[in-house]
Amino acid sequence: PQELPARGLHIVITAGPTREPLDPVRYLSNHSSGKMGYALAASAARLGARVTLVSGPVTQTTPEGVERIDVETAREMHEACLRLIAGCDIFIGCAAVADYRVDGVAEHKIKKQEGEDGLTLKLIKNPDIIADVALKREPASHRPLVVGFAAETRDLEAYARDKLTRKQLDMIVANDVSAEGLGFGADDNAALLLWRDGEGESSESLPAQTKTRLADAILRRALSCLPDGPTH
Ligand code: C5P
Repeated sequence: PQELPARGLHIVITAGPTREPLDPVRYLSNHSSGKMGYALAASAARLGARVTLVSGPVTQTTPEGVERIDVETAREMHEACLRLIAGCDIFIGCAAVADYRVDGVAEHKIKKQEGEDGLTLKLIKNPDIIADVALKREPASHRPLVVGFAAETRDLEAYARDKLTRKQLDMIVANDVSAEGLGFGADDNAALLLWRDGEGESSESLPAQTKTRLADAILRRALSCLPDGPTH
């Protein structure tokens, strides 16, 4: 018989970049491909969960059996996620959310200014989606397990531990995005998992492997962190 350790669970996953408009034709964004988030969604569905993928603009195909909600901006992603947390068992924030958006999006296309060498954009902070999800998981009877990602180019473990605590996450998947052939846009990734258990924190180093295999390992670890264990 097929092993379905996530059967009966609702897993919400954010994936991809967000797009922050400057005017009707331009935006600020990043290089996130959405591969890791989509691999997680596919894996969660294979393990038997009901999966909702809140996705920024990417070219990935929606995995079979996954409900996909398309968003563009961080604020749209924030709104969709907060709507979904009631009834969610595991929330995984894999999206590369833009930290800032343009303050005052121009109604019309911004014209090149003759006689000026520069153009100043004013940016304002976007909401921190995962931190808000972790904060708002009340009542205690419905607390999703919150899993975040930390993409770093140095001091991986220290920054990841700081995020785990500061954003009140249950688990964090840290990856070194400066490693060649891994991370952003690549098919493979390696990660350091840090999670809270009982009193302290535990860690596990996952070597470079396909994002599909890595997604399975991350999900199985998250399932083991659920209060009722993997057969929740
Ligand atoms: O602080 P940093 O952006 O590196 O944290 C990364 C984690 O936080 C990821 O899980 C990412 O999806 C999440 N995040 C978020 N909303 C933001 C910024 C980051 O959910 N505005």
